Amino acid sequence: FSSSDSAIAKLGAETAALILRNDAKGQPTVLGLATGNTPILFYQELIRLHEEHGLSFANVITFNLDEYAGLPPEHPESYWKFMHTHLFDHIDIKEENIHIPSGTVAEEDIAAHCAEYEQAIIDAGGIDQQILGIGRTGHIGFNEPGSPKDSVTRAIQLDAITREDAAPAFGGIDQVPTAAITMGCGTILSARRLVLMAWGEKKAEIVRQAVQGPVCDQVSASFLQEHDNAVFYLDEAAASALR
Ligand code: F6R
Repeated sequence: FSSSDSAIAKLGAETAALILRNDAKGQPTVLGLATGNTPILFYQELIRLHEEHGLSFANVITFNLDEYAGLPPEHPESYWKFMHTHLFDHIDIKEENIHIPSGTVAEEDIAAHCAEYEQAIIDAGGIDQQILGIGRTGHIGFNEPGSPKDSVTRAIQLDAITREDAAPAFGGIDQVPTAAITMGCGTILSARRLVLMAWGEKKAEIVRQAVQGPVCDQVSASFLQEHDNAVFYLDEAAASALR
């Protein structure tokens, strides 16, 4: 795309069409959502479609990719807070239809919490469309290098590069959590449609590896090459290393 704006306009229209199609059939729409800088414009577009065109999220069920371990919902950097600030507080989604892994579940309950998260996705009928960003380590969700293709929702140690990238928001690397709970690569790949967004030159090299490099667990996003309905929405700068 010539700019992130044109990519977002297309994705917004496609997402609205998906919701309207399911509404007409009396079926819910299940959206997988990401946090970070990348999807903010997309969430603004969804809010605009809600406010100006009456797009309703009353029959939308959401599953977020991940949450930092140790952060309660009200923490300013929690992904719970991020999602409410940037999207949920501005649309008519039902609170009970929102799913975000818990950052505060006790150590001994993490496995059960993750299994319940997987089950909730299955019970909702699976994810129709999963939104993804990409980290400098090639992660999708927080599936850092070494995450198996069939991995499921679990606790994971964050890569040093990922923590470095989060340091400014937390006011220093010491404040950045060392672990997170994330959907696995297998969880993500089970979505019916995957949309990975990337903007700007800083993402160009890792986008090249994801799209044109070997499919391997050192770059989780490369697994998208083996999905039959995965699309990359890139601005020119993020696409500039592709050849
Ligand atoms: C966020 C997530 C991460 C981010 C990635 C890019 O829920 O799962 O994979 O998408 O770290 O982050 P930004 O968009 O801030 O560059």
